[in-house]
Amino acid sequence: MALQYLENGEILENEVVGPDTWRMAIRAPKITDAAQPGQFVMVAVGHESSDPLLRRPLSIHRAENDVLTLLYRIVGKGTKLMSHMKRGEDISLLGPLGKGFQLHATEHHCLVGGGLGVAPLLFLAKEIKRRLPDEKMTILLGGRNSKELLVLADFQHVAPVLVATDDGSQGLHGLITALLDQEISGPATIYTCGPSPMMKGVASLARHRNWPCQVSLETMMACGMGACLGCTVQRAGIDETEKKYVHVCKDGPVFEAGEIWL
Ligand SMILES: Cc1cc2nc3c(=O)[nH]c(=O)nc-3n(C[C@H](O)[C@H](O)[C@H](O)COP(=O)(O)OP(=O)(O)OC[C@H]3O[C@@H](n4cnc5c(N)ncnc54)[C@H](O)[C@@H]3O)c2cc1C
Ligand code: FES
Repeated sequence: MALQYLENGEILENEVVGPDTWRMAIRAPKITDAAQPGQFVMVAVGHESSDPLLRRPLSIHRAENDVLTLLYRIVGKGTKLMSHMKRGEDISLLGPLGKGFQLHATEHHCLVGGGLGVAPLLFLAKEIKRRLPDEKMTILLGGRNSKELLVLADFQHVAPVLVATDDGSQGLHGLITALLDQEISGPATIYTCGPSPMMKGVASLARHRNWPCQVSLETMMACGMGACLGCTVQRAGIDETEKKYVHVCKDGPVFEAGEIWL
């Protein structure tokens, strides 16, 4: 079993990078060293109090030189509390958790991210570049508008980036699935993370084009370790002899698209 750690990390940076979106860098050498792209950490957002009691799952955005970086959007109490934490304070992390993206040699790696779904894809892009430096990679990012194209410059440092926005303020005016359909031809492997309807659209196009496709799912999570059954999703196209449900926290969060959607 892969190593997991409960680590108290020092916050090195906690800053706004987009609408309601923050980036937190934490010195956490053990988790950083063990992390693989697509894995996540359970973060104790309550700081010194026990409220909220439950840790919150956040994807590993970067893992370099003993520093783990998270990209998070304020949606409720826990993430609001995180945004109040200051440089120099400690934060408790549990991880790295879950099964991340599988990297195989392929003719063209295509990373497709929508909104906050870009969070795990930067680590993945950097890892593809490091481990498979000669292979072609294209990153496709989508958002409601240009401000929602998060950490775009960080991706542009790694590989060519194509963008789509719902309002046409940057890149293709339309959905990221249209961009994928127009711009990518020939054999490719797809890695996607974002809102569920977007990932379903990407998975459907991948199926038609015979592209292997990995999807990173998001569900509510209480424990993050397979103990509470709070994160189960039904598998697609199984017969009675096969396992009907998977735990997103333990069996995922990254799955082959065909395992979840037909
Ligand atoms: C594997 C995994 C990776 C994630 N990675 C990131 C990430 O990198 N960046 C990021 O900003 N968020 C990520 N999330 C979502 C993040 O965990 C939630 O936004 C966070 O837990 C909300 O906590 P809160 O206390 O602020 O909100 P709460 O007060 O708990 O909830 C506020 C609202 O958000 C909804 N919500 C809470 N948790 C989730 C969830 N997991 N999925 C969908 N809706 C939810 C609630 O139903 C409620 O409507 C990830 C979730 C999973 C399962
Ligand atoms: S979050 Fe508890 S089993 Fe997955």
